[in-house]
Amino acid sequence: MMEPQDNIEEDDTAASAPSSPPPRALPRQRVSLQKSSVCSRSYFMVVMVFFHVYIINVIALLLYVHYNNGSNAITANRDFTSRDNSHKVTGASNPQTPADSGFPRNMHLPRIEGIRVGHVQKVSLVPGKVHEMKTLSLKPLLFEIPEFLSEEECGVVVRLAQLKGLMESQVMVPEGQEELNQQLNLSPEEIFNFLDLNQDGQLQPHEILTHSRVRDGIWLTSENLKEIYDGLKVDQDGNGLLNLEEFRHLKSDAFQRFLLQRGVERSQLVRNSRHTWLYQGQGAHQVLQDLRKRVTRLTRLPSSLVELSEPLQVVRYEQGGHYHAHHDSGPVYPETACTHTRLAANTTSPFQTSCRYITVLFYLNNVEEGGETTFPVADNRTYEEASLIQNDVDLLDTRKHCDKGNLRVKPIKGTAVFWYNYLSDGRGWVGEQDEYSLHGGCVVTRGTKWVANNWINVDPDYQRQARYQQFVSQQQETQEQEEFISELNSDQHIERHQDL
Ligand code: OGA
Ligand code: CA
Ligand code: FE2
Repeated sequence: MMEPQDNIEEDDTAASAPSSPPPRALPRQRVSLQKSSVCSRSYFMVVMVFFHVYIINVIALLLYVHYNNGSNAITANRDFTSRDNSHKVTGASNPQTPADSGFPRNMHLPRIEGIRVGHVQKVSLVPGKVHEMKTLSLKPLLFEIPEFLSEEECGVVVRLAQLKGLMESQVMVPEGQEELNQQLNLSPEEIFNFLDLNQDGQLQPHEILTHSRVRDGIWLTSENLKEIYDGLKVDQDGNGLLNLEEFRHLKSDAFQRFLLQRGVERSQLVRNSRHTWLYQGQGAHQVLQDLRKRVTRLTRLPSSLVELSEPLQVVRYEQGGHYHAHHDSGPVYPETACTHTRLAANTTSPFQTSCRYITVLFYLNNVEEGGETTFPVADNRTYEEASLIQNDVDLLDTRKHCDKGNLRVKPIKGTAVFWYNYLSDGRGWVGEQDEYSLHGGCVVTRGTKWVANNWINVDPDYQRQARYQQFVSQQQETQEQEEFISELNSDQHIERHQDL
C-alpha cells in the first residue's frame, strides 16, 4: 500500500488554534468538590444518558448496515442509471446492471493530489524503499518519480523488447484524405471558411497548418508550405496567403501529393521511432509483472483496471528520432467509442479513440543529448489550438521548437513520469479530456533513446467500462472452465509458456 502522504506538510492544527490565550492552571481549592452529593447524582445521570445514546447508536448502525446490504442492488441500479443519464458520453445504454464482474458497483477512481508544482510526496511502491514523487505541473496533473525502475529492470525491459523485435511506429498511408472529404461532402467554400479562423478572406500559413499539419501522417511545416505554394504555383499574387480563388485550384490532397512525389523522409513524419508491445500478465517475465504491480500502487487504481489495460509499449528512438506533440487520448464526444471497450459495446461507432486515463512513461536509458519529453502548454493560463502556432513557431513541432515549450523532462534512466489525460467528472469518474496533457518527444540529437509507456485505459462512459469488465470476467470464467476440463483430460501438465 501507498504510505500516507506524510509530506503534505502543512500543519493545519497550528494555524487553526484558537487565538485566545491558553487556559492557566486552576487554583487548587476550586478543584475540590463542595456539593459532592448533588454532583455525584448528576454525574450518574450524565453517564446513563451517554450510555443509552451509545446503545441506540450501535443499534441504529447495525440496522443501517443490514438494510443497506439488502438494498444494494437497487442503489446500484439507480446509481448506474443516474450516471448514464447525466453523463455527456452516452454510448449505447444497456439497463442491465453489471453484477459479479469484479467491477464494484460504485467505483470511484482515486486521483493523486498535486498540491503545487515542486511538491514532493513520499510513496511506498516496493518493500524496503521509499520513492519520492514530485509534482511537475497541475495542468496536466503530472508527476516525476526518480528510480522507479532499477538499472537491471531497465536492462531487462530493453532486452525483452529487442528479443521480440521492434516495428516502425508509423507507416505511411499515402491515400485516404480524398476519400474522407468525399464522405464529408464539403465544398471548397465550406472548407475555406472553416480554415479561415480570423475570417479575413485569406488563409494565413498558420491557419492552414492548424488544421492540416498532420495529413496521412506527414507533418507540414511553414517551410514545406512555401515550397508547395511555389511548386504548385498556387499563390499567384505571391503574398504568402491564399484567397478563395487560389484555394479552389487545389485538390484536397494536393499538399500530400506534392510531398510524396518529392519524396518524404522519416524525419517528416509525425513520429520517427520503432516500438513493440510486451505482455505483462501471468506467465510474463517477472520484471514486467512487477512493473505492472508497481504502477497499480503508484496510481492507486483498482488492479482490475490496470490489468485490463494495454500491454507495455517499448519505444526506441534512433539519433534524429522524434515524436511531435500529441494527446495520448482522444476528445470525449457522445459518438466516440473507446478502442478497449468496443468488444463489449453493442453499437458500432464510426469514431474510435484510445481512452487512456493515465500515461506512465518510463525512461529506460540516459540519452546523450536531446530526447526530452516536452509539455508545451503545461500550466498555461489558457489553451487555444489556434495560438499553438505564432510567428512561424509551431509549439507542436518537437524537431524545431522544443525549447519554447513550457516544460521539458530530461530522460534519466529508471525515472518514471505519469500524468492524467482526462480531468475528473467531479463524481469520481473520468471527465473531459485534459487538453493541457499535450506532449511529445523532442528530437534525439545524440545517441539513442529507450522509453516505455504503460497506459491505463478507462472508458469515460462508466456503463461501457462496467459492461466491458463484466464481459472479460465472463470470458475468463469460460476459459478457466475449458482449461480445467482439458487438464482433467490429459495427464500432462501444461507448462505455461513464457510470453514476452
Ligand atoms: C509516446 C510519447 C514521449 C517521449 O510514446 O506517446 O509521447 O518522450 N513519448 O518519448
Ligand atoms: Ca485568414
Ligand atoms: Fe504520448
